[in-house]
Amino acid sequence: MTSSSSAPTSPTGELVIRTIAMPADANANGDIFGGWLMSQMDLGGAILARGTAHSRVTTVAIDGMSFLRPVNVGDIVSCYAHLLGVGRTSMKIRVEAWVQRFTDGPPLHVTEGNLTYVAIDTDGKPHPVKR
Ligand SMILES: CC(C)(COP(=O)(O)OP(=O)(O)OC[C@H]1O[C@@H](n2cnc3c(N)ncnc32)[C@H](O)[C@@H]1OP(=O)(O)O)[C@@H](O)C(=O)NCCC(=O)NCCS
Repeated sequence: MTSSSSAPTSPTGELVIRTIAMPADANANGDIFGGWLMSQMDLGGAILARGTAHSRVTTVAIDGMSFLRPVNVGDIVSCYAHLLGVGRTSMKIRVEAWVQRFTDGPPLHVTEGNLTYVAIDTDGKPHPVKR
């Protein structure tokens, strides 16, 4: 899928992860695995969730994940996260992944999704988000 003319040209949210896509993360086509990218987004969202809840968190759901463009080996991948809402024990966080290719060009929006985290205690039981 290609971006539409109304696609955002800059990320929304806090920069939570920045890394480089490596050959070990590629599939047989030479593109980066969607699962690797999702794990970076999950980690990035968890960083924002931990900072919000001031406790351990766990991922309970991932919704609306869209892969908009491929990620290439060597791309600088940046994940941006912002809080969509807080429930009693849960937090819904929007995570966007953007890349900077080897060539100098504008950052490209490659993936987005909504991740829900639950604040948990040391036994893994949900507890209210401390704000
Ligand atoms: C997350 C977990 C602790 C929740 O435990 P639970 O006993 O189901 O807790 P609850 O039913 O009280 O739900 C807790 C919160 O999560 C929300 N929730 C539960 N399932 C959800 C889902 N599929 N989507 C969105 N929110 C969900 C509930 O609405 C509730 O939110 P609120 O307190 O803000 O109203 C438990 O399901 C769990 O440990 N899951 C595995 C998590 C994990 O291992 N993640 C890593 C993936 S490999």
